[in-house]
Amino acid sequence: MKEEIAKIQSDALTAIGAASGEQELDEARIAFLGKKGRLTAASTGMKDLSKEEKPVVGQLLNATRGAITEALEAKRNALQDEADRAALEGLDLTLPGRPLHPGNLHPLTQLGDRAIGILRRLGFALAEGPEIETEFHCFDALNTPPEHPARNEKDTFYFDSGKLLRTHTSTVQVRTMETQPPPVRVIAPGSCYRRDEVDKTHLPVFNQLEGLYVDTDVQVGDLKGALEFFYRAMFGEETEVRFRPHFFPFTEPSFEIDARLQLEGHDPEWIEVAGCGMVDPAVFEEICKSRGDELYHPDKVTGYAFGMGLDRLAMIKWGIKDIRLLIENDARFLTQFA
Ligand code: DAH
Repeated sequence: MKEEIAKIQSDALTAIGAASGEQELDEARIAFLGKKGRLTAASTGMKDLSKEEKPVVGQLLNATRGAITEALEAKRNALQDEADRAALEGLDLTLPGRPLHPGNLHPLTQLGDRAIGILRRLGFALAEGPEIETEFHCFDALNTPPEHPARNEKDTFYFDSGKLLRTHTSTVQVRTMETQPPPVRVIAPGSCYRRDEVDKTHLPVFNQLEGLYVDTDVQVGDLKGALEFFYRAMFGEETEVRFRPHFFPFTEPSFEIDARLQLEGHDPEWIEVAGCGMVDPAVFEEICKSRGDELYHPDKVTGYAFGMGLDRLAMIKWGIKDIRLLIENDARFLTQFA
């Protein structure tokens, strides 16, 4: 029986050594150590042995089982190592990693920051107001009477409460003067809403930047100087700027500002970039009524105001042909502004 056990061990080690994969190794384990395996079968012969032989053969059986189990384990590890090595074959660990794109600011954010930066140099401070507004702040206080077309249901988003989504950032002029005494010099960038059909140049939500300067002796020349400075800083020192007479309810006189710019693939042309003017005395009168004092009495203060579309400015600056690109968040578009 001892020879038989020795034979089983050597056969087992040979089979394990020859196994070329996980499955063959498992087959060897079953063939020798399994319930019907050779070593298990051999151990059933124990019962026919003499009392003296039993412990000796028993020990031998145990030692053999241990040796085979160990050989199986060692072979399993070796196979695993080999598989790992094969998987890493051709992998060059010295190659640099793939760079991750860290993201970048949205072009509108970049443009807004730039505009704010330029106007800060002129002494403007940031101001803000709510996007859900009262008719008073959006229209009445800005000398825009109830029959004005901008107030039409077809043009403005109204809530049942009578409030509305502000159609321009000029609302912040009113809110600033209501809460701060003159002089004030503020800019207010922010979202505005109008019932516009979506196309290449219109979205129902867009962004404006409003400016307001009120003091005891503000004149049209101050307005011109400030805005010329702004557009030259934004589009280049050589940029020409012109003021065309226009009408806005809340300014008198009013102007539209054109800048002479060269769009990609075009000859230089005059492009409308903002509305502006001297704050209408009627606006100051509304502010006095609302405040309940005379600090903004039109005999005491004058001021200028301006409003520009930031989306439009971004489109001009970078030659963006479709405003919808600014809200679609397509990474192929956005990464161009990294
Ligand atoms: N609020 C005007 C608009 O939405 C823009 C504007 C024009 C703002 C003239 C002003 C201004 O402050 O003085 O089109």
